[in-house]
Amino acid sequence: MDMLAKMKTVFMERFGDKKTRAFFSPGRVNLIGEHTDYNGGHVFPCAISLGTYALVADRDDMKTNVFSVNLADKGIIGFEMSGLKHDATKDWANYLMGVVSMFEEAGHKCSHGFDIAIGSTLPGGSGLSSSASLEVLMAVILNEAFGFGLDMVEMVKLAQRAENVFVGVNCGIMDQFAVGMGRKDCAILLDCNTLEYRYSKLALENASIVITNTNKPHSLASSAYNVRRAQCEHALNELREVRPELKALGELTNPEYDKLAGHISEHLERQRARHAVYENQRTLAAVKALENSDVAEFGRLMDASHVSLRDDYDVTGKELDTLVELAWQQPGVIGSRMTGAGFGGCTVSLVQNEAVEAFKANVGKAYEEAIGYAPSFYVASIADGTHRL
Ligand code: GLA
Repeated sequence: MDMLAKMKTVFMERFGDKKTRAFFSPGRVNLIGEHTDYNGGHVFPCAISLGTYALVADRDDMKTNVFSVNLADKGIIGFEMSGLKHDATKDWANYLMGVVSMFEEAGHKCSHGFDIAIGSTLPGGSGLSSSASLEVLMAVILNEAFGFGLDMVEMVKLAQRAENVFVGVNCGIMDQFAVGMGRKDCAILLDCNTLEYRYSKLALENASIVITNTNKPHSLASSAYNVRRAQCEHALNELREVRPELKALGELTNPEYDKLAGHISEHLERQRARHAVYENQRTLAAVKALENSDVAEFGRLMDASHVSLRDDYDVTGKELDTLVELAWQQPGVIGSRMTGAGFGGCTVSLVQNEAVEAFKANVGKAYEEAIGYAPSFYVASIADGTHRL
């Protein structure tokens, strides 16, 4: 049974026979440009067809009840549609509550609640943005129900704010932007400094985007993530002593950075900042290569991105490095790197279509031998952003 059919049954059981509206919100995979968003650089993600579905019915009071078919053991979680505060006992519903709260703070007040069934085809905690997918989903549900008239970029910003302020994860804007603004068969080149963006058609001809999940159990990604952010901010502040007009590391070219690097006192912070600068320039070069149909160069830059994330940014770890090194050894692999925040989660590989099956078999077997458990593979199709079905 597909996800929506399953959800219809579950909705009926939990909330009764009501008229519902259906929505879909994708996950995302970032092709290149990692840990550049909060450094004022560029990213190049796309929305994927794995994502989060919602069935929504209006209520005539101010209460919302949510139920996830993936987290059935948590039962129905209820919250009020006004005056919300983060509440750990409400578990995953905090992502939805955060959006309601940020809408209210921005003057978009809800006048009733909903019964909502949620179902996700995204592997949870895999770094494919299941939380951003939920947040933008809720934003679109509210915008539609109450006719707030917000455009998608405004909703993306409120969704990011929900994650930053309400949930307390200091993420950049990439995930919510890719989820909300995704377009079928395109990646998005986004300048995170200005929010200027353009779509780039992914004409990969005979290649597929293969996502491989390390399946690494829970990692402490969010504290390490915040440490990287702080290191980059500190490095930027030191550079500002000699370049006061500098607003973000993403404004520097590689030679400019090399000239200035001596003004960053800590070796570790020099490495972090170098990644931020070089990765941004690499992203621009990669998009140019792709648009010139030089897929091989795009792949080479993906590989270089991984090396920089491993050596300068130190966010890979054994599982991701093992997957990527195995991928590099396979015939028909154009490029492979970690994607998302790192520490666990997924890699993204560009693989010739005829090599995909062997890739899965070989990488799967060797990874399991090295790590002790198997990875999972998803061949991504590039989807539209959050929308009503
Ligand atoms: C996470 C964050 C994003 C971005 C990536 C790293 O996915 O949510 O904002 O910083 O890590 O590129």
